[in-house]
Amino acid sequence: MSLINEIDRDRLPGHIAIIMDGNGRWAKSRGKDRSYGHQEGVVSVRKVLEAATTIGLKYLTVYTFSTENWNRPTEEVQALMSLLVSAIQKETPDLMKNNIRLKAIGDLNRLPEDVRATLLECIELTSGNTGTTLALALSYSSRWEITEAARRMTQEVAAGRLALEDITEEQLSNHLTTVGIPDPDLLVRTGGEKRISNFLLWQLSYAELYFTDIFWPDFREEELYGAIVYYQQRERRFGKTSEQINYKQ
Ligand code: IPE
Ligand code: IPE
Ligand code: MG
Repeated sequence: MSLINEIDRDRLPGHIAIIMDGNGRWAKSRGKDRSYGHQEGVVSVRKVLEAATTIGLKYLTVYTFSTENWNRPTEEVQALMSLLVSAIQKETPDLMKNNIRLKAIGDLNRLPEDVRATLLECIELTSGNTGTTLALALSYSSRWEITEAARRMTQEVAAGRLALEDITEEQLSNHLTTVGIPDPDLLVRTGGEKRISNFLLWQLSYAELYFTDIFWPDFREEELYGAIVYYQQRERRFGKTSEQINYKQ
């Protein structure tokens, strides 16, 4: 029986963010090279996205390439970039068919021109879709994002377009690349590590955290459903007491 039957559709997380880790180790354990793991990782993204649309999830963000990942061997970076182009091109018709809107967060200016062009074209094409929003975190790091936000707000203050007293949590959120996307309710990390690796540090303030040893290429529909079932068993208190939550005091 599928775990999908255990999910309460009225209490879905609004936004799930995933650190897709373990592609390299998955491939190595099969005697293959890392790029094979990344290819299978793309299949997992497709399956998880299908599962997300099936249950009606509104936002899914996947950590696809971090700022720090630019420091990997050139061949691996190139392989990842060309995989990105081919995956976007291949998946675009299905994104349209399934009413999925593509977004990207991160320092997109650092991406090679062909990757950026393909990405922006798909974002534009799917911008009117109203089903699940899939956000790719690309050349993304949270410290980069927060630093950029600070820089832009400072510029606006200096130019007289923003008052000092208007620098609020909401303003800062509006200057992040995630503007318009609600904060994640659930963070999933595959691959066994229990760390955040510079991902959505601001936005994850009150997210529930789900860590699994499963490598990303093995994380498919059932694993997503399992993570959601776990999420629905948590009591989210946001600093309050359990009594306040349960008796609405
Ligand atoms: C995640 O898998 C994909 C990216 C970071 C691009 P890894 O490539 O980090 O795989 P491991 O962690 O080395 O197994
Ligand atoms: C995090 O995975 C980044 C992505 C999944 C894109 P890493 O494999 O780069 O993280 P670390 O190096 O283990 O922290
Ligand atoms: Mg890794």
